[in-house]
Amino acid sequence: MSSELKISTLVDQFKDLPGAMLPLLHAIQAEIGYVPDNAVPLIARGLNLSRAEVHGVISFYHDFKTHPVGRHSVQICRSEACQAMGSRELESHAKAALGIDYGETTADGKISLEPVYCLGNCACSPSMRIDDNVYARVDQTRFDALISELADSQEIAR
Ligand code: FES
Repeated sequence: MSSELKISTLVDQFKDLPGAMLPLLHAIQAEIGYVPDNAVPLIARGLNLSRAEVHGVISFYHDFKTHPVGRHSVQICRSEACQAMGSRELESHAKAALGIDYGETTADGKISLEPVYCLGNCACSPSMRIDDNVYARVDQTRFDALISELADSQEIAR
């Protein structure tokens, strides 16, 4: 099924629900991995909104991706408590180890690296999140171990 057909099917499923926009965007991202540009006119038509309104919602919520992302999301906290405890060094290490900058994905499509601004784990900083799990007191050695585990678990899962 093409992405356009998948999106149209989801629009039809959600369009009559009150407050359909956010659940619909989440459903599209869950199905395709991100919200592609061609979703915007389909959503606008289905929900009887302007394209600008749809764009506005997508760009307001940082959780919505507008381009393909890696199978795993690695986020490093850049807020003050974590910076005071070494997250700048951690992010430099992460960028060098993965060979990518923030907002980029490794060439094999495994990992996307993103900044995040507080994970609610300030007392145990520096913190990072991998997919749905938050990790505390992450130094360079722990980062390497977590990424290595990620690679191992992925091999098993596939
Ligand atoms: S400042 Fe990093 S978790 Fe709160």
